[in-house]
Amino acid sequence: MTGWTVLGSLSAPIGEIPTPGRDSVAAVSPTPVNQDMATAAPTPAHQDAPTPVYLDAATAVPLHPVARQALLAALDDGWADPARLYTQARRARQLLDAAREATAETLGVRADEVSFTPSGTTAAHAAVLGGLAGRRRAGATLVHSAIEHSAVLHAAERHVAGGGTAHAVAVDRLGRLDLTVWAEAVRTPGVALAALIAASHEVGTVQPVAAAAELCAGSGVPLYVDAAQVVGRTAVPQGWSVLTASAHKWGGPPGVGLLVVRKGTRWESPWPADERESGRTPGVLNLPAVVAAAASLRAAAADAATQAARLTPLVDRIRARVAAEVPDVEVVGHPTDRLPHLVTFSCLYVDGEVLLHALDRRGFAVSSGSSCTSSTLRPSHVLEAMGVLSHGNVRVSLHRETTEADVERFLAELPGIVAGLRAEAGVVGL
Ligand SMILES: Cc1ncc(COP(=O)(O)O)c(C=O)c1O
Repeated sequence: MTGWTVLGSLSAPIGEIPTPGRDSVAAVSPTPVNQDMATAAPTPAHQDAPTPVYLDAATAVPLHPVARQALLAALDDGWADPARLYTQARRARQLLDAAREATAETLGVRADEVSFTPSGTTAAHAAVLGGLAGRRRAGATLVHSAIEHSAVLHAAERHVAGGGTAHAVAVDRLGRLDLTVWAEAVRTPGVALAALIAASHEVGTVQPVAAAAELCAGSGVPLYVDAAQVVGRTAVPQGWSVLTASAHKWGGPPGVGLLVVRKGTRWESPWPADERESGRTPGVLNLPAVVAAAASLRAAAADAATQAARLTPLVDRIRARVAAEVPDVEVVGHPTDRLPHLVTFSCLYVDGEVLLHALDRRGFAVSSGSSCTSSTLRPSHVLEAMGVLSHGNVRVSLHRETTEADVERFLAELPGIVAGLRAEAGVVGL
């Protein structure tokens, strides 16, 4: 397989991309397809260790086979600087153009509206700071939901430190934006930009983006949507001016973000000048990773409805069984208006970090709602904003390799693990 084949597959319409079987991937791969952390065979030294079950897709999804295939091919064909004028550079340029076009087509936008960035975080920083800079004549207020990702909140902090204003809009107990407060906030004079996460990365609640966008449009305020948990999984809502996403959330490689700025949006780069990516992202791109991101986005989007139909009932099962079988637990987030793959619950009388370690020892890789903001698990700003329990918080997020058996094993072991930790801490009689 060469980069030209990757280029060809990037130009194919959605649905026509062959999902490579083991053989076609093996042809370009030095290791078997599934030799990743979710399925790696135990070494003799770990014969007794439980089989790893990876349940943290909201942080990173195991590399999609299409991404691996495209990445390896593009390492051979996409190493040159696409800005140069020689043959190798033109080849790289074609790969970059094809990646951009495929990404734009999947998202339903124009290719010149799409820029690649080094991460979802940098894309979010650029979206917020660039959106505010482009509209400085309108004012210096950023309106955002109280449950934005830390990347957005940190950009907001930078804006405030520079003399700007940020106004956080509350959510309800299910993690849904309060549209009445939002409407009032965006029509206040001096609002330059509004930011709303498409669906919560911590509790999975889908936000009323279309309604929030309409309210923004009515006040002439552009809306930035952080769609990191949505792109490649569910339909991207309409009505936004700026959108960001992150490739390792859909099975692309880590270290590729998307920044999409719709035509006509006033956006000004917050970075020092650089010609690449239409001046929106400074520095050279990791082109092989970008190609892999675009190819896997196309594949993930084509498979999204099937995966959603498979994962939604598994999450329903986790929600119901955890609530029924673990005493003093709160399952949080909207029960139906939610992402297909993500569920969060909190266990009273259990330390969150201790619980994550105990689950890890039994082979379960899960995360906590607090993990995006801190390596030491301080209470999550999202759970705090919702007014729900944040003790012993666990976020379970499924992906295309998650099986029903994985979920069953997790559900079978969780109550005993929680009970054991409570007993160790002297909490008995629940
Ligand atoms: C909603 C959301 N936005 C932004 C990001 C940041 O993306 P990245 O990990 O690519 O920096 C994440 C990742 O956790 C996320 O979940």
